[in-house]
Amino acid sequence: LHRLAMCFVSSVLACISLVHGDAAHARPFDDIKKDGRIIVATEGQFAPFNYFQGSRLTGFEVDIAEAMAQRMGVKIEWKALSFDALLAGLRQDRWDMVIASHGITEERSRAVTFSNPHYCSGGIIVSKGEGVRTVKDLSGKVVAVQIGSTYFDNVKKTTEAREVKTFPQDSDARAALITGRVDAWVTDRFVAKAALEANRASGMQLGDMVFVERIASAVAKGNGSVASEINKALAAIQADGTYDAISRKWFGEDIRCK
Ligand code: ARG
Repeated sequence: LHRLAMCFVSSVLACISLVHGDAAHARPFDDIKKDGRIIVATEGQFAPFNYFQGSRLTGFEVDIAEAMAQRMGVKIEWKALSFDALLAGLRQDRWDMVIASHGITEERSRAVTFSNPHYCSGGIIVSKGEGVRTVKDLSGKVVAVQIGSTYFDNVKKTTEAREVKTFPQDSDARAALITGRVDAWVTDRFVAKAALEANRASGMQLGDMVFVERIASAVAKGNGSVASEINKALAAIQADGTYDAISRKWFGEDIRCK
């Protein structure tokens, strides 16, 4: 309402950018530094990368972002939102940065600026029992994926699945597999491993990888000063052992891109 009221007193151009948001209004790093806090959005439903333990936001990406913010000399104000709202919010300058396991894609790169990747992974097939392990096995099958994810695009592109069912959260796609409503679930390989460990009685099995991807945080399109601070901070924690320690704590291995 406030924004709309502003429209009546400002020029047509200013009005358009107020209503639609515009990367030109994204806070450069100087402003963030002066403010002392960076606003970081994530989903909080993608264990072990970003999730809630009770009311506490935690996970590999939460630890990595906190370590990077410390290097950048700022505090994080966390926001948790649905996955499909995260990149859109950068355009509207609702937050400065998103870290939620986004794979770097051409399509997303048209809308946001990605930092350097903080890990490398990919989509893996999860099924119940032995029958469905390979991309070929997915022919004619019903596959569950999170909506708006690279798993959706890649299952569509590389398999002959009969149906790709989308779910708002990745954990809903997992539940669909566990309860037998779909033949397979395609998700991140580390998410799948953690899910198997947490649900040993479920009968879930890991199959082949469908594709690999580089996962990065994102800032508003063209917000180069924030992207370059993130890159510097990431390089620093990867050089001084901080990244390695965080990665080993969550995965027992270093998952940086090689
Ligand atoms: N890596 C996948 C992608 O880029 C899935 C990311 C899902 N992240 C999440 N917080 N649920 O689309």
